[in-house]
Amino acid sequence: MTVETQDRVRQVVREQYGNVAKGTTQSCAPGCCAVAPSASLALGYSEADLAAVPEGSNLGLGCGNPQTLASLRAGETVLDLGSGAGFDCFLAANQVGATGKVIGVDMTAEMVSKARENAARLEQRNVEFRLGEIEHLPLEDRSVDVILSNCVINLSPDKPAVFREAFRVLRSGGRLAISDVVRLGELPEALAQDVSALTGCVAGAASVQDLERFLTEVGFEGVRVEVNQASKEFIRDWMPGSGVEEFVASASIQATKPGEAKCCEPSCCGGTKA
Ligand SMILES: C[S@@+](CC[C@H](N)C(=O)[O-])C[C@H]1O[C@@H](n2cnc3c(N)ncnc32)[C@H](O)[C@@H]1O
Repeated sequence: MTVETQDRVRQVVREQYGNVAKGTTQSCAPGCCAVAPSASLALGYSEADLAAVPEGSNLGLGCGNPQTLASLRAGETVLDLGSGAGFDCFLAANQVGATGKVIGVDMTAEMVSKARENAARLEQRNVEFRLGEIEHLPLEDRSVDVILSNCVINLSPDKPAVFREAFRVLRSGGRLAISDVVRLGELPEALAQDVSALTGCVAGAASVQDLERFLTEVGFEGVRVEVNQASKEFIRDWMPGSGVEEFVASASIQATKPGEAKCCEPSCCGGTKA
């Protein structure tokens, strides 16, 4: 894909999620966008999670729950790729606490504004949102302990670049905890060419094998991509009657950057950071 085509894909995606953030589309189905916030319960979030975040931060745009993969600890620095209105960032912020920090990156200006408005209503000031592309992260090398992402990397036209950037910004021993859509087989041509299927987290999904290869080639170890077979239940509703659930599924994606992780026990947190 040429650089120009990649930019066109990002532009279409940006327009779509800009409209979601502004609320100018009531329903942007098909796909992962603008399903009711309560749909998050089917993804593994609890009622307590939904109650713990500022109103308006959960737009129901996820396809899994990366928090359950991340095992976040107090004091850690967390990056959320494609943070939307901030839902996973706010949950992560509660877990890493005042000694930790959460950074959300999203390329859609309206989403970043919405997330910042939501953050302004919090007492805790350990979350910030940056405008940027996940293929060109606005973060320093080796500055992050954990990377979360929920239903975003499928939308990227350059997935190897996303993982190269993730590797760059992670500290040694840092980990990826990602929920995303994966492709199970060849999409029918009509679906593959459907722009709304692209922006709706279907047509851009990579296969499990490709994701494993991208991650391994970049240098990650402990790569695991696990398909959630039960996701058929909610993916069927993304494009009812299309049979889309036969072609894509939600998956948990985990990997680690080689090296020793930063110690975050009270006795040593703030010590050497690789
Ligand atoms: C399906 S929504 C998920 C939002 C959020 N993770 C959640 O679960 O609520 C996808 C988000 O990723 C952002 N996004 C898509 N492609 C991106 C890219 N290449 N770089 C940065 N952000 C991107 C969109 O602007 C949108 O906010």
